[in-house]
Amino acid sequence: MAHHDFIEYPQPQQDDTQYEFSAEELAAIQKHIAKYPDKTSAVMPALWIAQEKYGWLPQGAIKLVADTLGLSFAHVYGVATFYTMYLKEYKAKHLVEICTCFSCGECGGEELFAFAKKYLHLDEEGVSPDKLFWVREAECLGACDTAPVVQINNRRMRFNCDEKLFMQIIEDLKAGKEIPFISVPLSKQ
Ligand code: FES
Repeated sequence: MAHHDFIEYPQPQQDDTQYEFSAEELAAIQKHIAKYPDKTSAVMPALWIAQEKYGWLPQGAIKLVADTLGLSFAHVYGVATFYTMYLKEYKAKHLVEICTCFSCGECGGEELFAFAKKYLHLDEEGVSPDKLFWVREAECLGACDTAPVVQINNRRMRFNCDEKLFMQIIEDLKAGKEIPFISVPLSKQ
């Protein structure tokens, strides 16, 4: 039997959701397409737009990206499954990532992650009983001089995060408050 007989190409699962991009989202994707000589280069930003919209990437959203870019589902699925920051499964409403890498691990990230486990009564998958929070360790988030760093819902970062700030983040999320984007603070000269 030839090797390719063993390859199972993924097929999008059926669900009842109507996955579609708005006109604004399509315009944003077109801008990304225009930056590159080849549409395949726009897969990652298009996946990101889909994830921002749906909170994660169900297979219907991956298919939407594939159809929008005129690419095969298998190709886009392959990109989405290669990177851990593309969420292929839904575990909880909010994803909270605590950096325990390099300097964050040395500066309290490990302890903060242990605190989060207890504070939110996380199960072995890192999910709180109310399914509001999925907490996981992160690799370096690129702001090592502000360790430990916490990233909320894939974009909003908090720096020098201690237990007090962590609890505040959780309470804000529980209260439905928008977590604003804060960029990496510049080092004081
Ligand atoms: S080690 Fe945590 S941001 Fe780099």
